[in-house]
Amino acid sequence: MIVNVVEYTIRELTMKIIFLGPPGAGKGTQSEFICRDYGVVQLSTGDILRANRKAGTELGRKAQEYMDKGELVPDSLIIDMIKEELKKPELANGYILDGFPRTVAQAEALDKLLTEMSDKLDTTLVLEVDNEELIKRLTARRVDRKTGKSYHLIFNPPPEGADVDLYQRDDDKEETVRNRLKVYEAQTFPLIEYYSAKNMAERVNGLGKIDEIYGEIKKILDKYKK
Ligand code: AP5
Repeated sequence: MIVNVVEYTIRELTMKIIFLGPPGAGKGTQSEFICRDYGVVQLSTGDILRANRKAGTELGRKAQEYMDKGELVPDSLIIDMIKEELKKPELANGYILDGFPRTVAQAEALDKLLTEMSDKLDTTLVLEVDNEELIKRLTARRVDRKTGKSYHLIFNPPPEGADVDLYQRDDDKEETVRNRLKVYEAQTFPLIEYYSAKNMAERVNGLGKIDEIYGEIKKILDKYKK
C-alpha cells in the first residue's frame, strides 16, 4: 500500500509539456532555464537525431537526407524513436518535448502512446516569432561542440573568454532556413489549432530579451506546478 502512495506522489509532482514554435524561436534556449528551475528533462528530437547521425546509426543515416534539406524526417521513424525515449526512467520527474510533435500524425501518435501509458500532458507552450527575426537568429546561430549550447554571434554571444568551440549547423544556411520555415508553416503550425481545441495551448511572445521571455514562460508554468 505504501508503495502505491509513493508512486502516486511522484506522478503528481511531475510536469510534462510540449514546446512548440518555429525553427529559431528560442525553444532550446528557453528549455535550458525550464529544466534548471522545474527539474524536468529536455527531450529534443533534433538533438537525438543529430546524436544518431554523429554515431552513424541506421536512424541517423536515414534522417540525414531530410535534415540537410530542411525537410521533416518521416513520421514512422520519429514515432518509433519517441516510443523508446518516453520509456526512459530519467523522464519520470517530467519532461519538455522540444521539436516533437511536428505533424498532426505525430500528435495523434503521442496521444495514443500517453493513453497506453496512463499518462497525460499538462500543456503546450507556443513560442511566437516572425520569419524575418527567425532568419536573423538562425543564420548567425553558433553551437558549442563541447556542451551543445546555442549562442548567437550578435544577440547572445558566449561570455568573454569562455572556453567554447563554435560551429554552424548545416541546416542553418539561409536557403535551408527558408525551407524549414515553409515546412513549419505547412506541417507544424496546424498543431497550434490541434492543442487549442483541447484547451492546451499557452501562447508566448518570443520577441524581446531572453530573460524577459523566460519571465513570461515562468508565469505560465507556475500555474502547472504541483
Ligand atoms: P530541431 O533541431 O528541432 O530544429 P528546429 O525546430 O528547427 O529548432 P531550432 O533548434 O533550430 O531552434 P530553437 O527554437 O531551439 O532556437 P534556439 O533556442 O536554438 O530540428 C532539426 C531538424 O531535425 C528538422 O529540420 C527535421 O529535419 C528534424 N526533426 C527534428 N524533430 C523532428 C520531428 N519531430 N519530426 C520530423 N523531423 C524532425 O535559438 C535560435 C537562435 O536564436 C540562437 O542563436 C539563440 O542564441 C538565439 N536566440 C534565442 N532567443 C533569442 C531572443 N529572445 N532574442 C534574440 N536571439 C535569440
